[in-house]
Amino acid sequence: MKISVVGGGYIGLVSSVCLAEMGHQVELIEIEPVKVASINSGHPTLYEKGLHALLSANIGRHLQATSDYDCIRRSDISMICVGTPPAADGSADLSMVRKASRSIGESLKSSCSYHVVAIKSTVPPGTTSGLVMQEVLRASERSSSDVGFVMNPEFLREGLAIEDFMHPDRIVIGSSDAIAGDFFEAIYDGLKAPRIKTSLIVAEMIKYASNAFLATKISFSNEIGNICKLLGIDVYEVMRGVGLDHRITPHFLNAGAGFGGSCFPKDISALIQIAQNAGEDPVLLRSVMEINDQQPLRMIKLLEKKIGPLKGKKIALIGLAFKNGTDDVRDSRAIQIISALMQREAEIRAFDPMANESMRRIFPGIEYCSGPEEALREADGCLIMTEWPEFETLDHEFDLMNSRVIIEGRRILKCRGAEGICW
Ligand code: UGA
Repeated sequence: MKISVVGGGYIGLVSSVCLAEMGHQVELIEIEPVKVASINSGHPTLYEKGLHALLSANIGRHLQATSDYDCIRRSDISMICVGTPPAADGSADLSMVRKASRSIGESLKSSCSYHVVAIKSTVPPGTTSGLVMQEVLRASERSSSDVGFVMNPEFLREGLAIEDFMHPDRIVIGSSDAIAGDFFEAIYDGLKAPRIKTSLIVAEMIKYASNAFLATKISFSNEIGNICKLLGIDVYEVMRGVGLDHRITPHFLNAGAGFGGSCFPKDISALIQIAQNAGEDPVLLRSVMEINDQQPLRMIKLLEKKIGPLKGKKIALIGLAFKNGTDDVRDSRAIQIISALMQREAEIRAFDPMANESMRRIFPGIEYCSGPEEALREADGCLIMTEWPEFETLDHEFDLMNSRVIIEGRRILKCRGAEGICW
């Protein structure tokens, strides 16, 4: 099939590369010429495991990047993969979705063959029928009988996105009518996964509810962890026993500094807004966010309890990315920690195997180190913020660790004497 993908960000690029690998002809529309040039020369504009190899193998064959919307009318399907960042009140900002829909519509004006517009961006329930459909049909001057609409949420985890795309747990296809749903479904021929064919609005809500449930599991584990800490119980042992119940599963029960990244905090805040606008007070979701906001500050309090006021103290911050396997620091728990340490006038020495440069763009004024040893040298205390596997053996490699006060925000170290945020 001929597929146009709008938006060369994380989801757009990974989806384009995977669809090309599956044999489709993909044109990726990206407005930034620098990104277009980079993608067309086989260099991904972001880090994701396995992406470089797959892009190099497909670029110029099944995949091409462009800034021109002209390819839309040559394709069977266009897929909207633009960002829906949080607005000031926490709701999803849909301006990029609106713009992409309008541009797709304008391009479809000069074509008369059947076309499906699919949205992969996470959008509030009602957006595909209320905004995307209206904008596309108005701009294209065509009717809903020859342009179909689909909402196909993505469930890709950063660091495992290619694996998640090629081996999904399920494929959710919400559609305006059965013809559009069936037409679109064919792009996933060859992928073995249960298919959920449903309405547009249900598909939109499945995405929010999935992320909200995963975030709730994390905040739940953190709350149990905070209680366990006071009672002298190891929450990881507790959750091992809890997670073996097949109704619960062992996944997303790791207590720690809380969830970050470009999805959970943004999507839960948006869902809270959606609920409030509908007249419902989402008590549980508000608590999920509140627990998450408090977790990093618990690490600071623990550190203060151990080494006293932090003013002038040298603090090693080990791990900056929102999780391991990425250079992404969006909503990373380390951001809250850095702000709190700066407020207290501590001297910060930060290190991350991949994310030093990303964090430098947010906090240019703190010291970034080339390795953990440099960060730890003469440090009064150390906070571990990301579960990079290479941190597991830090204590064996550096005697330095043994004389430091170490607070773990992620359970990773095997050393004696480190204290966990809630274990
Ligand atoms: C998340 C979802 O897992 C994907 O299914 C979804 O498609 C994606 O958001 C999205 O909406 O686009 P991602 O943000 O890449 O994926 O990261 P996760 O692996 O889910 O981790 C999110 C955060 O939760 C990280 O900060 C991680 O450290 C934290 N976490 C995760 C915990 O604190 N405990 C856990 O047990 C698991």
